[in-house]
Amino acid sequence: MRLLKNKKKHFHQNKKILFFSNNFYKIKEIKNLFKKHSIDIVSLRELSVKKEPFESGTNFIENAKIKSEFGNNITDLPCFADDSGICIDALNLKPGVYSKRFIESFSNREDCFKYIINKTKKTNRSGAYFKTSICLTTDNKHNIIFEGMVKGNITNIPSKDNGFGYDPIFKPVGFMKTFAEMTLSEKNKVSHRAIAINKLIDFLTN
Ligand code: IMP
Repeated sequence: MRLLKNKKKHFHQNKKILFFSNNFYKIKEIKNLFKKHSIDIVSLRELSVKKEPFESGTNFIENAKIKSEFGNNITDLPCFADDSGICIDALNLKPGVYSKRFIESFSNREDCFKYIINKTKKTNRSGAYFKTSICLTTDNKHNIIFEGMVKGNITNIPSKDNGFGYDPIFKPVGFMKTFAEMTLSEKNKVSHRAIAINKLIDFLTN
């Protein structure tokens, strides 16, 4: 417990934290969530870091840890990274940790959406969820995990071409619009990443 308190105190004194991502949308989402707190989030691009490790993990936690440890090692800053993905009922909870590679295996995003929507219709199973695991690697090389999840449904037609990844075909439970149709602050109230990031913010600030 004492160790944990010291760690938190250190964060208050040294407020610069690296977010290990090159994803423009994720950086925007995360900077927006940290805006109210006096913690300075820097991205890879701001530090001109071009190297990225191979994400060889078989689950979200392993990949998040690979990235946050890598970022901490090359910059000496406390670093956090997220690994996220979508798990689709009609695809037996795939692509999950392989979400990025799955979408990239199609010649464009629309073909990927068509494939998913067809499967969803054929199996009559429209459920899906997004999951995020965040790993924070502290100055003294401790790894702390924060997780978030949001349940929803795959839509029958993709919504307008906003947002990133699977945003246009995912409608969170309780909402009439897809992630792509939401404003940043609407998405940040419910998303898997926002849930996990808010846990990280609580940890850093309380
Ligand atoms: P990674 O965490 O950067 O490896 O992301 C994995 C992939 O999951 C991304 O490239 C997106 O395709 C998808 N993904 C993760 N989070 C979201 C989201 O909030 N909306 C849409 N797609 C997402």
